[in-house]
Amino acid sequence: MNPKKEKTAGMLEKVSSLAKRRGFIYPGSDIYGGLAGTWDYGPLGVELKRNLKNEFWKAMVQSRDDVVGIDAAIVMNPRVWEASGHLDSFSDPLVECKKCHHRFRADQIDTKCPDCGGPLTEPKTFNLMVETYLGVIEGEKLKTYLRGEITQGVHVNFKNVLDSTRMKLPFGVAQVGKAFRNEITPGEFTFRSREFEQMELQFYTKPDMEESMRWFEYWKGERRKWYLSLGLREENLRFKEHGKDQLAHYARAAFDIEYQLESEWKEMEGVHHRGDWDVRRHQEYSKVDLTYFDEETKERFLPFIIETSGGVDRAALFFLVDAYHEEEAKEGEMRTVLKLHPKLAPMKAAVFPLLKNKPELVKLARTIYDDLKKEWMVAWDDRGNIGKRYFAQDEAGTPFCITVDFDSLEKGDVTVRDRDSMKQERVKISDIPAYLRAKLL
Ligand code: GAP
Repeated sequence: MNPKKEKTAGMLEKVSSLAKRRGFIYPGSDIYGGLAGTWDYGPLGVELKRNLKNEFWKAMVQSRDDVVGIDAAIVMNPRVWEASGHLDSFSDPLVECKKCHHRFRADQIDTKCPDCGGPLTEPKTFNLMVETYLGVIEGEKLKTYLRGEITQGVHVNFKNVLDSTRMKLPFGVAQVGKAFRNEITPGEFTFRSREFEQMELQFYTKPDMEESMRWFEYWKGERRKWYLSLGLREENLRFKEHGKDQLAHYARAAFDIEYQLESEWKEMEGVHHRGDWDVRRHQEYSKVDLTYFDEETKERFLPFIIETSGGVDRAALFFLVDAYHEEEAKEGEMRTVLKLHPKLAPMKAAVFPLLKNKPELVKLARTIYDDLKKEWMVAWDDRGNIGKRYFAQDEAGTPFCITVDFDSLEKGDVTVRDRDSMKQERVKISDIPAYLRAKLL
């Protein structure tokens, strides 16, 4: 392994081990020995992913007048994939080792088999679409596909959205959902999976190159700002332009937002200028008029599409990596802490009674816990000493720990300990919700 890869593997190993131990991410079908390229999100992971998707929705749909949401079916009429070009062009070059018969993506290896050094076959194209069959009668089952990208569910509904809303160009349709790809070499933890989630915006503009490129630049900027606003470190983000030979079959211009995983830059999101590819092809294949009527100019045309397409699982992975710290808590004592943005943290706070065997402390702590749970995901812990509980919450990324002690009974306040600074302050019990709300803004 080259030293660069080894370093990356080091960080991925640490994060995947923490992820399994603490219930963020488990290998899919774990007790059966797993299934390559599939992952199951545990109690903390599901919250992290849900928070990410909620933040995406807030920024891209809820806070905007020019974007609406949609949730289309995963399985679509197979003609969709003929029209979109996925059956012809959605493929990777595959080579096979003539000795051990292991298969690899030709663009990821050199001239020999990385496993046994054997000679390789000539590359052949391998389609990434995952086939499935619908219907109950053998021989009459419809062969179709699990969607390879969530994009097409939006474009086939372009007319439905126009007819059922008052949206006028320029406007966008956002979607979050699962996609499936028969990746030749799934790996690097969740980075390349066969089942994963995407969060996308398809933004329709007039078919004018200058105007559409202005939107392209605008959305590039917005998506970068979104990652930064959720705490990703700026030095670990960059844009990478696709060269003409790297462009996908539909793209006129494309930039990746990349994350620096230790010393390697990895794709996290793509911003693509799709021209009018999707609407033109769906109009041609469905024979349904998908043109837009511009009331100002009285013209009919097919719109251009600017797309932002991010991976929820990749983002979750990179946020975990970015937040992962091993540091000295006090002299001679190390801690592992996930410094996740409070908006992304699975648990917003943990509540502890100082002592488990003092019913009056447990009762008051329980009241605070039950009250906070109405608004947020909150953890409860009454095991072991407070120091150990802090460390357990640090690993889970919980930003605030609230301890009820004997002073709380007399003075009506608690200790709130901040995950990152480890500083403690006293906060009135009645002020805790407002305190948390302010920190979660
Ligand atoms: N609609 C355009 C599209 O799907 P893409 O670059 O193929 O473009 C967009 O995918 C994003 O989806 C990627 O930037 C990545 O975050 C995520 N993604 C793609 N393939 C993935 C895989 N095998 N595992 C996890 N995430 C993946």
